[in-house]
Amino acid sequence: MVKVQRIAVIGTGYVGLVSGACLAEMGHQVVCVDRDERRIARLLQADIPIYEPGLRDLVASNLHGHRLTFTSQIGDAIRLSDIIVIAVGTPTLENGDVDMTQVNSVVASIAAYAISSKTVVMKSTVPVGTGRWLEEQLGLLLPSDIKIPVVSNPEFLREGSAIHDTFHPDRVVIGAEYAQAGAEIAELHAPLGAEILLTDRESAELIKYASNAFLAAKISFINEMAHVCEKVGANVGLVAKGMGLDRRIGPHFLNAGIGYGGSCFPKDTKAQLKIAQNVDYDFKILRAVIEVNHRQRERFVSKIERTLGSLDGKHLAVMGLAFKPNTDDLRDAPALEIIASLQNLGASVSGYDPAVSAHAVQMLLGVNLFTDPYSALRDADAMVIATEWDSLRELNWALVRSLLKQPIIIDGRNMFEPEEMGRLGFTYVSIGRKTCARDMAATSSYMTKKLFQG
Ligand code: UGA
Repeated sequence: MVKVQRIAVIGTGYVGLVSGACLAEMGHQVVCVDRDERRIARLLQADIPIYEPGLRDLVASNLHGHRLTFTSQIGDAIRLSDIIVIAVGTPTLENGDVDMTQVNSVVASIAAYAISSKTVVMKSTVPVGTGRWLEEQLGLLLPSDIKIPVVSNPEFLREGSAIHDTFHPDRVVIGAEYAQAGAEIAELHAPLGAEILLTDRESAELIKYASNAFLAAKISFINEMAHVCEKVGANVGLVAKGMGLDRRIGPHFLNAGIGYGGSCFPKDTKAQLKIAQNVDYDFKILRAVIEVNHRQRERFVSKIERTLGSLDGKHLAVMGLAFKPNTDDLRDAPALEIIASLQNLGASVSGYDPAVSAHAVQMLLGVNLFTDPYSALRDADAMVIATEWDSLRELNWALVRSLLKQPIIIDGRNMFEPEEMGRLGFTYVSIGRKTCARDMAATSSYMTKKLFQG
């Protein structure tokens, strides 16, 4: 039997909303708090402001089951809960430090409204030492009979599969100073059946940054390998497969492409670098990971230029804008920077994305946006793939060929087999693999170079 807890989740972004809905699904009484009243009004109608498969149904069923509610009144939520989950945003400041404004504001609210002891769970990604500092602050601000232990419980969910990741975690990390608080939060996660790692608070805080930084390093590593593959005529997909079969390496996060984006890897790698700098340590590998990721976008633009010649006056169809499939999130999406570079080089751009259309309009100046791929492809000099949406796998290739001015595909996500695309009548350029020229399956890289340079 699950011990039903009264839980307040502060912040209704990705982490807050998914965690709140999943905790309610596990049987707890959950109130999610956000100061944005319009957002709360929408959420009370199960109108979900983010694109996340399955989230609407999960929120709706728990709202109807009276296990989940939403409010903008943080005071009531704090007073009436046993556990407070902090899931507010921690963006990066200009100088690379983490902006703690929202976390500080929650601490002030807890100090103002808590009238009994309760446990605070930190799910926002915060610099090492934040949990300790927060607990000390609350100790100073509250009467001595009110105890508020702070537990670090980092989140490892991915956008697009956030609910699955929450219910099937590889591990649950709980960093606590007081055993009782750690045990309480461990009990909350016990029904998930995952390995629970109990640590000190600093280690838990660092595990989150270390995990994201390591995954980002795998991506930058394979992207560097892709360049070597291009030079020596190897296939990065096969190299990654061969590496990944070694269980010590593993197959995941070895897809070469235009690099990582999103709201987490770019922010967390930079924050981890700054955390090291702040203690006088130069984290060399991480600096290289970030630099390689940035260069990857520039190199892709150069690849487009090498393939098409001068981009001045050319028209390109960029397929996929979100930072990865199954999300409408454009934060630090490689496509945005690539599109801006293409425009700077004189190209006009049409874009296709099945999810981002509505709010993309504000961020993508001068881009004609379509939710139908064929409309975006009409009269383009080439099809450029920036996000590996499944919908692109099922295109009618004869129609694609007839819509494009020239049958050229430049694929930043290695979605297709080069020989197959050659057979379908395309010149197909990808990352870390031989280019396949139209009607010439398996053209050698030497031939291809001649073709493009000549
Ligand atoms: C990431 C982590 O995977 C989560 O574990 C973590 O909880 C989350 O950040 C966070 O800190 O909140 P997410 O940003 O949703 O999750 O997306 P990922 O699926 O990790 O992809 C990140 C980026 O890497 C995407 O742009 C993706 O296209 C790129 N990527 C991923 C590659 O270029 N190659 C790969 O092999 C894998």
